[in-house]
Amino acid sequence: MRVLFIGDIVGSMGREMVEEYLPRLKKKYQIDVVIVNGENAAAGRGITKKIYQDLLYMGVDVVTMGNHTWDQKEIFDFIDDVDYLIRPANFSKDAPGRGMTSISKSGTTLSVINLHGRTFLPPHDDPFEKVAELMEEAKKISPLVFVDFHAEATSEKMAIGWFLDGKASAVVGTHTHIQTADNRILPQGTAYITDVGMTGPYDAILGMKKEDVLYRFQTNLPARFEVPKAGRKMLSGVVIDIDDVTGKSNSIERVYINEDSPFQN
Ligand SMILES: [Fe+2]
Ligand SMILES: [Fe+2]
Repeated sequence: MRVLFIGDIVGSMGREMVEEYLPRLKKKYQIDVVIVNGENAAAGRGITKKIYQDLLYMGVDVVTMGNHTWDQKEIFDFIDDVDYLIRPANFSKDAPGRGMTSISKSGTTLSVINLHGRTFLPPHDDPFEKVAELMEEAKKISPLVFVDFHAEATSEKMAIGWFLDGKASAVVGTHTHIQTADNRILPQGTAYITDVGMTGPYDAILGMKKEDVLYRFQTNLPARFEVPKAGRKMLSGVVIDIDDVTGKSNSIERVYINEDSPFQN
């Protein structure tokens, strides 16, 4: 099974990039399953039902979230009714929604788990304990398991990667919005990257208007960050090839599309 994962979609420009490049990426890499992180898809903050449905219409199979999960209040009205939108599994047991889903394509099933880090982020439940528990559940369904670990610290992401080596098919990091160059297959067959990077405004700071971010850094005064609506765009992702029988990964390749690094067929 070939999986394309696209990192944090930021605002309308991020959604436009998915719409524009998804068909081409699917064709180029012979993709079976598309997973995207959608925590910033609605103007940088959360996701709406319409955006979730639009992403599925564009060809996305599963949407994962992160610390911005609850930013659009309407999510409370629909998260329990949709099958392919997951939020971090180690949120409170009282949180609506769920942290794992499964998707079947041409006879092969992949489980997808979303997890949240706790270093430099709110203190959620233990992601190690939670993922170990979910991994057992997932393995009853299929040996193919994909993990999006939404976390700030590179060390915490690597720790989850090593913790799941030989257990998960893939562990990818999201949240920091900058693609790292450390994509590799760990010794027991788990595909790993510390951060996939973001999809959206290219001439911005982590997807936000650079003027607003600069102002806050320079003055230490509060500034509301906004997402630019026009300008140059980028897309960040990874393509992972997973063995359908063993659930171990054969390769992980980075995808990075912008004007300085154009898409090649
Ligand atoms: Fe994000
Ligand atoms: Fe985040």
